Amino acid sequence: MADPSVVLLDHQDLRHYEIAILEGLGVPLDQAEIVVDNLVEADLRGVDSHGAHLVELYVARLRSGHLRPVTEVTVIRDDGATVMLDGGVGFGQVAGVRAMELAVERAKAHGVAAVTVREGTHLGALAYYTLPAAEAGCFAMAVQNGPAIVPPYGGRSGIFSTNPFSWAVPAGEELPVVYDIATTAVAGNKILLAKKRGDPTIPEGWANDVHGRPTTDTETASAQNLCWFGGYKGFGIALLVEVLSGIVAGSSFGHTEQTECELVGNRRLAKGWMFLTLDLERFCGVDRFREQMDQLIRDVHNTERAEGVDRIYVPGEIEHENRAERLASGIPLPVALVEEISAIGADFGLSPLA
Ligand SMILES: NC(=O)c1ccc[n+]([C@@H]2O[C@H](COP(=O)([O-])OP(=O)(O)OC[C@H]3O[C@@H](n4cnc5c(N)ncnc54)[C@H](O)[C@@H]3O)[C@@H](O)[C@H]2O)c1
Repeated sequence: MADPSVVLLDHQDLRHYEIAILEGLGVPLDQAEIVVDNLVEADLRGVDSHGAHLVELYVARLRSGHLRPVTEVTVIRDDGATVMLDGGVGFGQVAGVRAMELAVERAKAHGVAAVTVREGTHLGALAYYTLPAAEAGCFAMAVQNGPAIVPPYGGRSGIFSTNPFSWAVPAGEELPVVYDIATTAVAGNKILLAKKRGDPTIPEGWANDVHGRPTTDTETASAQNLCWFGGYKGFGIALLVEVLSGIVAGSSFGHTEQTECELVGNRRLAKGWMFLTLDLERFCGVDRFREQMDQLIRDVHNTERAEGVDRIYVPGEIEHENRAERLASGIPLPVALVEEISAIGADFGLSPLA
């Protein structure tokens, strides 16, 4: 029986609708297509926290003038294998695609490459950048910092973001392995989406309330006061993400604001990231790598399963399967989200999304 709390949408219909909204706000078509592709890919892959749910946030940022509708990426420094870019406080996705294309090109030329971006904004789901680089024969890694919202392990006041971390590699007959996580227990947008959907509870261990006390109540859960995944271990990786995306990239980090802007601290949009790529041909060779990844993935799949476990996955596999299913059957968007996007669309003369 159909679930009445969601509407099934064809990915192309969703894509056209979101592009029309961004164009209505002055985003050039070619750039709107990149941003929306990032969102629709997340929805197709089942990463619902980073799909259509983000439209409202991006629209609010454009309307307030804090996010520039036209993204201009400039080169700060270019040493061949390493490049530093400035994202001009435009869309992270536009600067992100440019940065990863460059990282792949330079890894092919030099064996290894690192591209940083400062004054970059939200990248959306990071797998969007690491997966194509893996498909091009690289090991690819992406890290990003963001607004100072999450306290350090044991703390109560925000200094880091949810500092996401993704890496991806190709395989041969198997699908690429794509690991893509927030270093907090979950992305803050999962809490915000749960609030939007009106879910009464969230799983234990996701978030604290504003006083730093653990909670499973969606209403009192703070999307800023999140728990680190694995306690101090996730926090340690988040700190590394902050170092690479902030200090190394010449971007703002922790409580240090590198550029003057209206929004600072827990509202700051202009942060940074690093993409790191290795050309696998220079190490074990791409063909051999692909064969051996197939072997490793199959060995993982064929491991004896613990009681009650039906299947063992490698990272990225659940998302690959979601994508195939949603391409065929549609993307299930919560009714509240469809209404939210339709209300925005109405401002640009669009009919309701569904
Ligand atoms: N741009 C930003 O500022 C920002 C910040 C935070 C998070 N994010 C994005 O949020 C998204 C969600 O992050 P999250 O931490 O909530 O993700 P999550 O906790 O759902 O973990 C997702 C990862 O775990 C893997 N996985 C899930 N179940 C598995 C299983 N049973 N076996 C093996 N692997 C499994 C998935 O394949 C995926 O790689 C990511 O796309 C991330 O990039 C972005």
